[in-house]
Amino acid sequence: MEFVSIRTATLRGDQKIDFDLYIQIGAKYIAYIRKGDSFEGKRLDRLREKKLKKMFIRPEDEQAYRGYVTQNIEQAYDTKSPKPLENRVAVIQGAQQNSTEAVLENPESQANYDQAKDGAGRYVEFLMKEEKAVQAMLNIENTEHDLAHHGVTVSTLSVALANKLGLTDQAKVQLLALGALLHDFGHMKKTYPLFKPLKDMSKEEKAEYMKHPQVGAESVQTHRHFDKVVIQIIQQHEELVDGSGYPKGLIEKNTDPLAVIVSSANDLDRMMLSQKINRNEAGKTFMIDRLGLHPLDHFKMLKAIMG
Ligand SMILES: [Fe+2]
Ligand SMILES: [Fe+2]
Repeated sequence: MEFVSIRTATLRGDQKIDFDLYIQIGAKYIAYIRKGDSFEGKRLDRLREKKLKKMFIRPEDEQAYRGYVTQNIEQAYDTKSPKPLENRVAVIQGAQQNSTEAVLENPESQANYDQAKDGAGRYVEFLMKEEKAVQAMLNIENTEHDLAHHGVTVSTLSVALANKLGLTDQAKVQLLALGALLHDFGHMKKTYPLFKPLKDMSKEEKAEYMKHPQVGAESVQTHRHFDKVVIQIIQQHEELVDGSGYPKGLIEKNTDPLAVIVSSANDLDRMMLSQKINRNEAGKTFMIDRLGLHPLDHFKMLKAIMG
């Protein structure tokens, strides 16, 4: 029997599935969930606990699967939807994570890139329109320290910050959101622990870790479908306004303004993940620990965004 892999992150939403789902154990495919089930509540939690990133369907069910995903996303973005925002946001988070992963894993595909870019545009519109969307997105915890999930959180924080800064150019904010999703491209295929605090890393780990913005930018710049500013964000997202960041030690005026925003958002999420700081404390702790490293107004705005 043949099987097609699909991402578990796409299996959100309260619609019943109309295809069978399999998991792979060794060389075998085992039927895991049957047609007619949905992924709300405990079933989805159990699936997440298993940390299964991929599941499998039969090739003849591919169309049914695609229809399911599209319908879930359409319903989630429908502002008139009677469904709770929390459920809609879970689907949107999954969709964003999915399109991010697709580009991280397969950057040479222009189709993947374009899909992530369109998705980023739609996502920006959603965040701007739905007042409580940012909070609801931040409520979805990255318990597995997943790189794509980190990208989605940094993207959410960046868009919310841009909104507070009065950045209204929709096309620019779309590229900001996309760049933030992909900012840590350089961490792909790395073996060091991603969210270990830098101070706890060995000298070798730290040296290797600090190459990631440069490595990331270099590996995507040969792909012509990547927007210049997205590459710039990948390259500069660890720079700090006082010049103490890396890889180049650029001060704020020499850094792309969109990368300055992503740097603040990234540093905040990384702090929460690596130091296990909860959201209520994060805004305050960030300001105390990182004052001088990001624009002053970013601290106040991010504190307000964190709620
Ligand atoms: Fe990074
Ligand atoms: Fe990051």
